[in-house]
Amino acid sequence: MTHKPILEVLNGEVADTTPIWLMRQAGRYLPEYKKVRAKIPDFLSLCYNPDLAAEVTLQPIRRFGLDAAIVFSDILVIPDALGQKVEFYENSGPILHPLSSVDDIARLKCKNVAQHLDPVYQAINIVAQELSDKTALIGFSGAPWTVATYMVEGASSRDFTKVKRWAIAEPVGFQRLIDVLVDSISEHLIRQVSAGAEIIQIFDTWAGVLPSLEFQKWCISPVKEIVRRLQKHKPWVPIIGFPRGIGVNYKYYAFETGVNAVSIDSSVPLGWVETELKEVNIVQGNMDPIVLLAGGKPMIETCRSIEEVLGRGQYIFNLGHGVNKETPPENITAVIEEIRGQ
Ligand code: CP3
Repeated sequence: MTHKPILEVLNGEVADTTPIWLMRQAGRYLPEYKKVRAKIPDFLSLCYNPDLAAEVTLQPIRRFGLDAAIVFSDILVIPDALGQKVEFYENSGPILHPLSSVDDIARLKCKNVAQHLDPVYQAINIVAQELSDKTALIGFSGAPWTVATYMVEGASSRDFTKVKRWAIAEPVGFQRLIDVLVDSISEHLIRQVSAGAEIIQIFDTWAGVLPSLEFQKWCISPVKEIVRRLQKHKPWVPIIGFPRGIGVNYKYYAFETGVNAVSIDSSVPLGWVETELKEVNIVQGNMDPIVLLAGGKPMIETCRSIEEVLGRGQYIFNLGHGVNKETPPENITAVIEEIRGQ
């Protein structure tokens, strides 16, 4: 029998120690990542190189012994697979050739998504063979709304005016984009599970920017449909939802979408999580990445207060958002020791 604490928790059992992994645990804060990245300047080429993607997936596992590995990829491989031009620049983040009409949506190449993303499944395959029987493997995708924000804005955005305006003013046309994304994301997730992913996480980083009516339409409904399809094809695979910045709506999201666990951002008060959210779902989160970066006493105190309130029962330690690239790796070692009580 394998003994993977994170799977035990997601299956409703209580593990001996709190399982821990970190969003964006592979990346530029690790010298060993920067070494690989220097050899392959184009970020997407790294994502599509199964051996190197597997290598950087395993780097944080070797260094820290986390409870889960998350396959090295990106949420923007979906627009890339759909034929939209996607480029990554060192300091400005991703740049896409933005969609601005229903005709642009109609031109997306919906048929070759799984074929284009085959290197991701190969990377999962390699990692699955390398991991010890204590470490679980997570596959992931962005949620339709968050992926759509990049496809329409053409870059990271401050106020999301273009994409929100389209979604609010022309919901029938915008629905076509969301439908394309529900299809391609569902297929991508199902294939990741077939390749060896044991858990799925859905990143909805920009869920918090929508008004409540639109939140229902563009965040809840599409994620609920993806969860339905995934559960139909792979009923045993736990699904973690990460809708960032949705406040009290975490409770509604947790029961309405059908996810098995909900990953919360750092603004959610722990007392509310304990009394309101843990009744509905398994919780993952929520140390602020800058608390991790800052380290020292505030970091250890935050670990303790999180562990004190959430540590009993079904709970997975994580951050409220991804690891910041300035983070000293030794802070992560200290957090793991604190959470595991070593
Ligand atoms: O968690 C992991 O270790 C797995 C890998 C992973 C990456 N991106 C690698 C990456 C995951 C899970 C993601 C998710 C992702 N990508 C999200 C959702 C989570 C979040 O952080 O909100 C989003 C919004 C993206 C889109 C994206 N990718 C942006 C905005 C950027 C540029 C900003 C930045 O951090 O550099 C990326 C690039 C990216 N994705 C990097 C990594 C390691 C840095 C690229 C590099 O090496 O230069």
